[in-house]
Amino acid sequence: MNDLDTLVQAAQADFAAARQGAALEDAKARFLGKSGRITELLKGLGAMPPEQKKSRGAEINQAKGAIEAALQARREQLAEAELDAQLQAEALDVTLPGRGRGIGGLHPVSRTIERIEAIFGSMGFDVAEGPEIETDWMSFTALNNPENHPARSMQDTFYVDVKDAGGRWLCLRPHTSPMQVRYAQAHAAKHVGTQAMPEIRVIAPGRVYRVDSDATHSPMFHQVEGLWLGANVSFKDLKVVFADFVRQFFETDDFDVRFRPSFFPFTEPSAEIDIRFGSGPLAGRWLEVAGSGQVHPNVVRNYGLDPETNIGFAFGVGADRFAMLRYGVDDLRLMFDGDLRFLSQFR
Ligand code: DAH
Repeated sequence: MNDLDTLVQAAQADFAAARQGAALEDAKARFLGKSGRITELLKGLGAMPPEQKKSRGAEINQAKGAIEAALQARREQLAEAELDAQLQAEALDVTLPGRGRGIGGLHPVSRTIERIEAIFGSMGFDVAEGPEIETDWMSFTALNNPENHPARSMQDTFYVDVKDAGGRWLCLRPHTSPMQVRYAQAHAAKHVGTQAMPEIRVIAPGRVYRVDSDATHSPMFHQVEGLWLGANVSFKDLKVVFADFVRQFFETDDFDVRFRPSFFPFTEPSAEIDIRFGSGPLAGRWLEVAGSGQVHPNVVRNYGLDPETNIGFAFGVGADRFAMLRYGVDDLRLMFDGDLRFLSQFR
């Protein structure tokens, strides 16, 4: 084997050892580059006698051709390997199951509120929403709460570190009842001077807040306020409407409704509304589901209306309570823990 065969073999071995394009180009430079081995040999020809120069030149060119061919072959190999690796890395296994979007769902309390809105909506009630940060006047004074009423205390109501124009702390509304006042005031303003003012029929669902926390109380919970005010809306109307609501909500006729005398500053007379199912898992027990009463004349005055000609009733239901009764949930905290194992059952 002559020196040129050895050189060609060395180049083939170096090319084979190169695992990447850059290493291969380095190897190429060692043989074919400006000061590569082949180039040096060709330069050396100049010093040779003419007859030797011709045959040696031909041999070197042959070796050069062999090295160039080896280089080209290795380049193709590497390019192919690179493509293979890329295809493998980007391989898409079409047999894998999709990742899915996770079908969301409404929270059971939201579903319940939507249900309550739909039922009262079908009975001609408007749906109103209002602020969760409320003034002291809307929360208490307008609703005929005496100045020293315990509901105003820090132990019962969350206050916000901001005062209203009258210098009173704002609070997180402890009930939805301020919406009676907000809605009725807007209604009165809209119909000022009207001969026969249209009735008010509205429900106002939303979050309320109280300093309270155990298995049956959460510092945030949901109520739906109701107000029906007209020329002569009576307790009898309330009973019919409420019973109809219960019938539609629970999809049963098999229940009794009872009014139990109670006290609220904003109604007179006042009553708790209890229901008792005749069948099903809750059968036989009286369940307290709402507070209610005929709207107190002082409150009607605070609406901006005449209590002689605007008579009616208000009620407040616990939306969480209705959700728990409907879905058979016995711990209120489950509703607000955010545990998907619980929540996903309602989607
Ligand atoms: N606001 C009362 C509460 O949070 C519930 C209530 C009772 C609302 C009687 C009313 C009502 O509208 O007439 O306990």
